[in-house]
Amino acid sequence: MKTIAPIVLETERLTLRPPREEDAAAIMAVASDERVAATTYLPHPFLRADFDAWLGSVLGAWREKGVGVFAVFTRHDGAFIGSMSLRPSDETATHASTGFWFSPQVWGQGYATEALQAVLRFGFEHLALESVEGRHFAFNPASGRVLEKAGLTGPVAADLPARGGGVTPGLIRTLHAGDARYPGPSR
Ligand SMILES: CC(C)(COP(=O)(O)OP(=O)(O)OC[C@H]1O[C@@H](n2cnc3c(N)ncnc32)[C@H](O)[C@@H]1OP(=O)(O)O)[C@@H](O)C(=O)NCCC(=O)NCCS
Repeated sequence: MKTIAPIVLETERLTLRPPREEDAAAIMAVASDERVAATTYLPHPFLRADFDAWLGSVLGAWREKGVGVFAVFTRHDGAFIGSMSLRPSDETATHASTGFWFSPQVWGQGYATEALQAVLRFGFEHLALESVEGRHFAFNPASGRVLEKAGLTGPVAADLPARGGGVTPGLIRTLHAGDARYPGPSR
């Protein structure tokens, strides 16, 4: 079985790395919050079996594609605060999508934007991606703002699968490699 490359990304305030079994309690505490479930596709309630299925799928993607979902921790205390993904979305792996969810306890402090900037830099500089897109429900402007602050442009309107089935209005933003700008030095 292919092992997972020990990819760790560091920003001024955050550490990002693939999630591990030992993170279960901390990740479940955030993923099971209904404010997080409401604007994502996470199961609700989010039980241990859901965590096991999520981790299995996440680690499978890391082994297969060498990138995927990062668990995000604050550097000052090592606390798990959220999830930030970069998923190659086509066979040539030059295009990717991002998705994220963070603990309501830390919303509004710029953490999602900081983590997104880190994975964008990793994707463009180390994976030679050509573009990254982010999608969100139209009723979730905070997500759109995170994408916008990290430089993704649009938005383009699109119907997205709704949580409970059917479709719901959504918005898609995209960043092309040549337009990417990052704060601070490369790490
Ligand atoms: C979306 C989410 C990840 C943002 O995390 P965060 O760490 O608070 O993000 P940041 O602090 O980096 O930026 C949030 C921005 O959204 C803005 N915002 C928050 N609520 C908003 C609203 N209702 N309308 C418009 N903007 C809003 C904030 O003011 C901030 O922008 P600013 O810096 O210009 O003031 C977080 O709210 C979350 O986890 N939500 C639930 C899961 C989710 O929706 N994930 C995205 C699925 S596509």
